[in-house]
This record gives sequence, structure tokens and C-alpha cells, in this order.
Amino acid sequence: CGIVGYVGGQQALGVVLDGLRRLEYRGYDSAGVAVLADSRLLLAKKAGKLSNLEKMLAEAAEADLRAGTTGIGHTRWATHGGPTDRNAHPHLSADGRIAVIHNGIIENFAKLRAELQAEGIEFASDTDTECVAHLLAAELAGIAGSPQALADAMRRVCGRLEGAFTLLAVDAQAPGAVVGARRNSPLVVGRGNGENFMASDVSAFIEHTREAIELGQDQVVLITADAIEITDFFGNPAEGRDYHVDWDARAAEKDGHAWFMLKEIAEQPQAVADTLRGRIGETGEIMLDEVRLTDQDLRDVDKVFIVSCGTSYHAGLVAKYAIEHWTRIPCEVELASEFRYRDPVLDRSTLVVVISQSGETMDTLMALRHAKEQKARVLAICNTNGSTIPRESDAVLYTHGGPEIAVASTKAFLTQLAACFLVGLHLAQVRGVKYADEVAAVVAQLQEMPGKIEKVLAGMDPVRELGRELAEAKATTVLFIGRHVGYPVALEGALKLKELAYMHAEGFAAGELKHGPIALIGGPSEDPVSGTPVGHGTPVVCIVPSPAGRGLLHDKIVSNIQEVRARGAHTIVIAEEGDEAVVPYADVLVRVPRTPTLLAPFVTTVPLQVLAAAIADARGHDVDQPRNLAKSVTVE
Ligand code: G6P
Repeated sequence: CGIVGYVGGQQALGVVLDGLRRLEYRGYDSAGVAVLADSRLLLAKKAGKLSNLEKMLAEAAEADLRAGTTGIGHTRWATHGGPTDRNAHPHLSADGRIAVIHNGIIENFAKLRAELQAEGIEFASDTDTECVAHLLAAELAGIAGSPQALADAMRRVCGRLEGAFTLLAVDAQAPGAVVGARRNSPLVVGRGNGENFMASDVSAFIEHTREAIELGQDQVVLITADAIEITDFFGNPAEGRDYHVDWDARAAEKDGHAWFMLKEIAEQPQAVADTLRGRIGETGEIMLDEVRLTDQDLRDVDKVFIVSCGTSYHAGLVAKYAIEHWTRIPCEVELASEFRYRDPVLDRSTLVVVISQSGETMDTLMALRHAKEQKARVLAICNTNGSTIPRESDAVLYTHGGPEIAVASTKAFLTQLAACFLVGLHLAQVRGVKYADEVAAVVAQLQEMPGKIEKVLAGMDPVRELGRELAEAKATTVLFIGRHVGYPVALEGALKLKELAYMHAEGFAAGELKHGPIALIGGPSEDPVSGTPVGHGTPVVCIVPSPAGRGLLHDKIVSNIQEVRARGAHTIVIAEEGDEAVVPYADVLVRVPRTPTLLAPFVTTVPLQVLAAAIADARGHDVDQPRNLAKSVTVE
């Protein structure tokens, strides 16, 4: 997940390792370097933390490795293939001439791998990346090494790759050059004096230079000690965007955001796109071949349980609406910490879906073991490759959200929704309860989600302002109401506020208000002398479904908003663009793009994340590390 490249007068190994250390915040599970010294390509890689690699380097006392002044380095966060020594990057071509590092996912790697294997190439790893090393070597076979030849080869290879990638490559026969390429995955160039850099972000080289070049989409860049050459994939000259980095090193790690959580919120469009990528066919069919459950297994399913904790539990609650609607299979959602103690009815035809960002949550792991003992089939939806939960499950679908560092989960939630929806549609497709064109229609809507989330993010200034106001207003309770999938969104919004702002917050099904919670709502307090109202009444965040589609649902919640407002509540209404019915009853109105009802949580959750972070920040709390909480809870 971290990439560094260097050419210049310094010892490359030191520069690359320092750069990798500065990228450590991105999260990783293995590390490796390749250095060019006297036309020899020297490689070292190791699973685990950078310190493991450094220990290995110290023991090997590889003098040559220290001599080289051209090098690349990588910290890997496993996607294809577990976090092992052999899957760590760099990857070498079979002839040992080319070394490659990569971030992203090469979607068509299975096809490329099969082609290369048919030509007799043996693979040394399970990664998608290794294909690129072999493809580059094939392009360069019989050609004398030079920086230009390597760049040409990279352009031709990129033309064959589908998916998202940042690639760096070096050729043993072209010392003094590193070639990079990017599509849908970040890569920046650092312009030095008699030296140049490449990295996933500027924090890797900020000690050496603050002059950076951001590359455009589908570009190849060649760096030598004195030159930087950028082209498109066809070799036409192209330009990057030059900029001066004026952040300090710490801000650089967060991409200029004050907190990791804010960075992760901003990454959501990409994270959702990455989770969908490679799993949807050309005609909109779901392709989940990676999930090791046969179509027959899936046809045999007569009941689904979703089991998880915290935010992952809320993702499951949303998924229930979609899975039951699309598949007509009963689906129950359960807190992992309750599941096994309840003696649930499970058998061979039960599909238990466990959702866990970390893959290590003990409650979820215990629930999974219980399900397996009862012979149920277990499918994990997980963000961490090689973690315990996917290892012990029968099948796994990874969310490709990238590492999540802030304790309060954000991008994991949206990517879990995407993964759950893929599972639901896949089940419907395999069981034939949905026609191909119906599945394709939902898939097309799903693919619009990254763009819609982007739109929501662009309009968050008023929500941040509201956060500052609420922080000052010293509100002690905030209520969240929603119906249908808006109900779990209300629960998630309240959870974010508890976690970050340490406020009492509760989410309710809007229809339940009248059965009790409405008693919590009060109007503004009164000035004891003049009797005029002071401040606001109880803040109530209302998540409003689309008026299109399920109009009845929409009208019901509009009535609920009126009910709480009549009792003095300060209403914060999250509603679709163009929904005029809510306008008279909204004290604060937050607009989200028009979205089909089932998919609305992708857009309605985002303002609630931003709101909680803004209140916490305004109150001076540590947004990334809230008190009493842990990112991954490995006790029951
Ligand atoms: C902890 C975290 C939550 C998270 C929950 C489940 O409580 O603080 O943010 O939602 O664990 O974690 P998992 O890794 O299993 O999704």
C-alpha cells in the first residue's frame, strides 16, 4: 500500500526505507525493496513489519544492496494472495531482469496469468502483480536495456491491463532509471536536485524535496537522476500538475486532512469503486468466482444469517432489506456477541455471512466457529486479507477499502454495503429469482454510487458548520430517526456520535417514536425572566427516503418529522434533491443526490459521519482515537 522509487546520488536503500517508514500509516502486512547496483538487481522482502525486513537486511549485511543508487520499495497490504514472504513485493520476471511493485488490483490477471503459464512461465507468487514483471520481460526480450526501452515496454504492458494500478519497475540492464505508471491509483513524482522520486504520496519524500508532480490518469513516467518524462499510454508527451507541498510531514501522511477519519471519509468514493471493481461483467452480471461457494451451494441456501458487531452490524441491517427483497430468502441479522448464546437454528442449508473490517473481532470469530460447528456455510465479508475470520470461513469476499486507521469506521461501512449488495445480487442471479436485466439494472445503479458519494462530499461545509454549532450548543442528546434502510443509517449516525462526540445519541425506527421515544423530545429552554425561548430544542436527525419508488414510506416519515417538530425538536433533515415536501419542517436541510431507496445509505450515511467528526473536533476530542475504544476488539 506504500510505494517508493528513487534515482540519484544517495544510497537508494536508505532513501527507500525511510520513505516506506513515512508511509507506514497507510497500513501494510509485508515489505520489500529492490536496488540496482552495477547492473545487478538485488532484492529483499519479508512478511510483517518493516523492522522484520530491516533485521533481515542487517543480518545479510548485503554490501552491494547498500551500494546502489537506484531503488524501489513497497509495503503491501494484501489483496490477491495472503501476506507471506513470497507474495511480498517486488516481484521478479523469470529471467531476474525486471523487478515490479504495484498497488491496486489488476482485474484481468487470471486471464494474463493463464496466458503466461501456457507459454511455460512458472509463477513464484499468488499475486496479480507478478504478471506485470513477466509481461515486461517478454516485451524487453532481445532488446538492449535502456530507460526509454523500459518506458516503452511499460506503455505496451499497461495497454493490456484492466483495473487499478500504480506500478513501478526497474530493469537490471537500465541502471539509473525507474519507470512508473498509474491508472485509478495514486502516484506522485518528487523533483529533486540531481535526484528524483516517486511515491504513493508526498510524505515519502518530503524530507528531500517539496516540489511534487501529480500524475494524470493513464500516464507513464520515467525518472532518471536529471530528468522526468511523462507520456500517456501511447507515448504522446503529457504533463502532470506541478505543485509545492507546504504541509508538514504529519499532515502529509493524512493527505492534508486533520484526521485519518476525515481522509477515510474522503476516500469513500474510491473505496466503493475498488470494492465493485472486477466483480461485474460486461453485461452487468455479478462475477464472484473468487467466493469459494458453488452455485449449487448457493441454490441450497434456505436461510441467511448476518452476524457482526458495531458498524459492521449496521451494514448487515441494511443488507437484510436488500437480500430479502432480491432473493426472497429469509435473512436475519444478529449481534455476534449474542449469536451463539441464543442457540440459533442452523444447518447445512443456512448461509451465515460474517462481516468484519479487521477480520479479528473475537465476538464475530466465536460466532463463526459456532456456525461452523452447526454445519452452516460461512461467508466472510472482510477488509483485511489473511486475517483470522476469512481464514476460518468457508468463503470470503474482500472489501477493497484499503486500511482503515481511525477507530470510528467509515469507509469500511460503505464498502461492506457494496460487498453485501454484490452477495445479494449474486444469490438472486444464481437462484434465478431475478432476470439478468433486473440484476444489471441494479448493478448500473450501484456503479453510480462512487460519483454520488463524491457529490455529497462536495457539499459538506454546512454540515461541518452545524457540527460546530451543536458542539457549542452543549446539546446533551441527539436523536436519529429513519424508516426502512434509513433505520440502520439512523443507528449508525447515533453510533458515530457516541463514539466521537461522547454524546448521548440514539437511533430509532421513526414509526416507533410514538411508542415511547417521543417522550425524550423537548423544546428550547426558557429565559427565567423574560420567558423567551433560549437555544434549540432536542436535535433530531431525520433520514428521509426518496419520494420516488416507495412514496408511502416517504410520506410517513414526513409526518414523523412534523410530530417531533410540534414537540419542540430542532429538525436536521437529510433528504433528496428536489424533495420539496420536507422543506417546511426542516430547521436544517442537508441535500443528497437522488438515489434508489435500497442504495440510499451510500449517500445518507456520509453527512452523519461528517457531523460526528465535526462535533468531536470542535469539542477538542481526539477524532481518530476516541476514549475507551479500540479499532479491533480481540476479547469477548
Ligand atoms: C470495534 C470498532 C468498531 C467496529 C467493531 C467491529 O468496536 O471500534 O468501529 O465497527 O469493532 O469491528 P470489525 O473489525 O469486526 O468490523
